[in-house]
Amino acid sequence: MTTEILKVNPQSPEPEAIARAARCLRDGGLVAFPTETVYGLGVHALDRSAVLRLFEAKGRPANDPLIVHVAALTDAAALVLGLPTHADRLARAFWPGPLTLVMRRGPAVPDEVTAGLETVAIRVPAHPVAHALILASTVPIAAPSANLFSRPSPTRAEHVLQDLDGRIDMVVDGGATDVGVESTVVDLTTDPPVVLRAGAVSLESLRAVVPEVALAVRPTEADGNMPMPSPGLLSRHYSPRAPMVLYRGRQASTREAVRAAASAAIATGQRVGVLATDDDVKTFEGLDVTVAGIGDGSRAEHVASRLYAALRELDIAAVGLVLARDFEQEDGLWRAVKDRLQRAAGSVVMVPD
Ligand code: TXA
Ligand code: MG
Repeated sequence: MTTEILKVNPQSPEPEAIARAARCLRDGGLVAFPTETVYGLGVHALDRSAVLRLFEAKGRPANDPLIVHVAALTDAAALVLGLPTHADRLARAFWPGPLTLVMRRGPAVPDEVTAGLETVAIRVPAHPVAHALILASTVPIAAPSANLFSRPSPTRAEHVLQDLDGRIDMVVDGGATDVGVESTVVDLTTDPPVVLRAGAVSLESLRAVVPEVALAVRPTEADGNMPMPSPGLLSRHYSPRAPMVLYRGRQASTREAVRAAASAAIATGQRVGVLATDDDVKTFEGLDVTVAGIGDGSRAEHVASRLYAALRELDIAAVGLVLARDFEQEDGLWRAVKDRLQRAAGSVVMVPD
C-alpha cells in the first residue's frame, strides 16, 4: 500500500483535504493526523475490522486498549454508561484538550477498541486538524499514537512515515505538534479518580478542579504477576532502539556521571548518544558522542516538545547506547517528561553520589 501524504494548514486545514481524509476513515482506512500532543493513527472506532487492521499496522498487542476521540462531551456521553461523577467538571475545564477520561463503556463500543475491558478511554482533542477531521468523518475515531509499538511517539509527520510508511493509507501533515507528550489519562471509574498516565495536563491543574484526584502506583518488576491497571504503565515504552541509561540526582553529579559513562563507553568502541539540554551541550565538547538537543532545561514545555524527536535522532544516528540525565523538578509538565524518560530507559536508572 502507498501511504498518501496530505499537507494541510495546521491552524485552518483546507476543507477538501479534510473531506478526503474523513472519507478514507469512514471507509475503514487508517489515517494519521496531528493532535496537540502527538500524531494519532485514526480509525473508525465502530468498525471492528478496521480496528483490527490498526493493531496489525502498529504491531500493537491486542490487550492494549485505544483512546476514542470525539468532538464534544455529548458525543462521549453516547459511548458510555452514564457520565461518572467529575466527568462534567473535568470536561468543562480541560476539553477540548489533552485529557483522556476512562469511563464505563456503553454497548456501542466494540471489544476490539477496549481490549475487552468494561471501560473506554475518551478524549476531545483541541488541535484544529483533529477536530475538523472528527467533525467531517461524523464518527468517533479510535487513535493510538502513530508509532510502531514501544517506539517514541511521533511529533511530526516524518516520524509517522519512519515507522508506518506503506502500512497505513494516509498521513495528514499539519507540521510539528505542540505539547510533544501524550494526554493525561484519568480513570473515573474509581473513587477517588486516578491518574493512570501522567501527561500534558498536570496533576496540579487536575486537583484545582477535583482535589481528590490520586496518582496510580507504578507496578514494579517485583509485581510482575499482577494484572496491569492500565497497559500504559508498561515500564519500557517510548524507547529508542539502543539501551538507554538514565542518571538521577543533583544536576552537577548527573552531568558529570553522564560524561564519565560516555567516555568509558567510547573507550570500549561503542557509539554513544546523549540527550542534552542547551546547558549540557558544552559538557560533551571534545567527546565523540552524538548529541541530541532537548532545548532549555529550565522549561518543561521546551523539553517535552523536543524529547521524542531527540530519541528518534539517536536511532537514526545508529548509536549503541543512549545516556541521559533526569530532571530534579517534579511539578507540572515535568512529571510527564520524567515519566517518559524513565520509560524510555526501561527503568534502568543510576544514582551517582
Ligand atoms: O495524547 C494522546 O493520548 C495520543 C493522541 C493521539 O490522542 N494518544 C495516545 O494513545 O497516546 P496510545 O494508544 O498511545 O495510549 C493510550 C493509553 C494507553 O496507555 C492505554 O493503556 C490507555 O490509554 N487506555 C486506553 N483505554 C483504556 C482503558 N479503558 N482503561 C485504562 N487505560 C486505557
Ligand atoms: Mg502510544
